[in-house]
Amino acid sequence: MSADQFTLAAQQAATDAQRIVPSVVDLSVELAGLRLRNPVMTCSGTSGYGPEYADVLDLRALGAFVTKSVTAEPRKGNAPQRIVETTGGMLNAIGLANVGLRRFIDEKVPFLRELGVPAIVNVAGHKLEDYLTVCRALDAIDCVAALELNVSCPNVADGLEFGTDPVRLRQLVSAVRAEVRRAKLIVKLSPNVTDIVAMASAAIDGGADILSLINTLAGMAINAETQRPMLANTSGGLSGPAIKPVALLMVHKVYTRVAKAAGVPIIGMGGIANWRDAVEFMLAGATAVGIGTALFINAGVVSDILAGLQEYLQRKGVARVSDLVGALKA
Ligand SMILES: Cc1cc2nc3c(=O)[nH]c(=O)nc-3n(C[C@H](O)[C@H](O)[C@H](O)COP(=O)(O)O)c2cc1C
Repeated sequence: MSADQFTLAAQQAATDAQRIVPSVVDLSVELAGLRLRNPVMTCSGTSGYGPEYADVLDLRALGAFVTKSVTAEPRKGNAPQRIVETTGGMLNAIGLANVGLRRFIDEKVPFLRELGVPAIVNVAGHKLEDYLTVCRALDAIDCVAALELNVSCPNVADGLEFGTDPVRLRQLVSAVRAEVRRAKLIVKLSPNVTDIVAMASAAIDGGADILSLINTLAGMAINAETQRPMLANTSGGLSGPAIKPVALLMVHKVYTRVAKAAGVPIIGMGGIANWRDAVEFMLAGATAVGIGTALFINAGVVSDILAGLQEYLQRKGVARVSDLVGALKA
């Protein structure tokens, strides 16, 4: 073999080595010190407190389980009709129906304790004290890995959402931060704002460990025959594939403009229905992904996404799913 042939052969071998497909890919991710077996979790409010879905969903396959919103006092929620199917999605106006803090601790926490995957409890309220009461109590429960603040709730004082004013959001997050010592603090951003980056900055300044986005987009549906709103509440929150492009852009903006530099991980959600969607959110900057509306359509969606992710990583020769985070090319 001539020297040139040898060099060519060596170069070819090096290229082949780069293409070697890892047989086992690492699906684990880390969110501000919280280690997850994989990046797929539920979206709050789309699988109750867990037991309701335990027969149809393999909750143990998840990276983490996220509960529906818990408030200080029990809530009945809005009057029916509370859900309407729309093109490529659905509108819901559940109105934070939940059993309240006391029953949550007594009746729901035992299930979460045995679940075998990190439990994230979503917390909502209509005044600052509500959030403080719930977060303080849940921070004392060791099986609650993280608290996710749902800030898309109107404040009783003025009817404005905490999540639409950066000053108010920062105040809320820093007050909660002062009380939460053990659990990770996630702030779930509302997309119903002009500047999502300003809201993300406010949450980070207030002390958020992790951001999740997006919550539902405000919308309504009208029945042309009855000439009435289809939801008893008139307006509701839009979710499902229809909102995916909006969610992706918001994740991308928040990651590139503030979260990456601050070292604050993102849980991306909004219309994710398959592994390809999950990959897109991770490329845009999400470290983990939430699956919500898709659970109502395909109970096997979580295992489908995990299998698809694995196959994608192998095909691309990527050893760790975390290598996808923010890897979007220009
Ligand atoms: C029926 C339903 C109930 C929801 N309840 C809550 C809730 O209690 N708290 C919350 O923070 N988000 C709630 N959400 C919003 C979801 O957690 C998620 O942010 C949103 O639906 C976008 O994800 P998706 O398109 O995958 O559903 C709810 C969504 C749906 C569809």
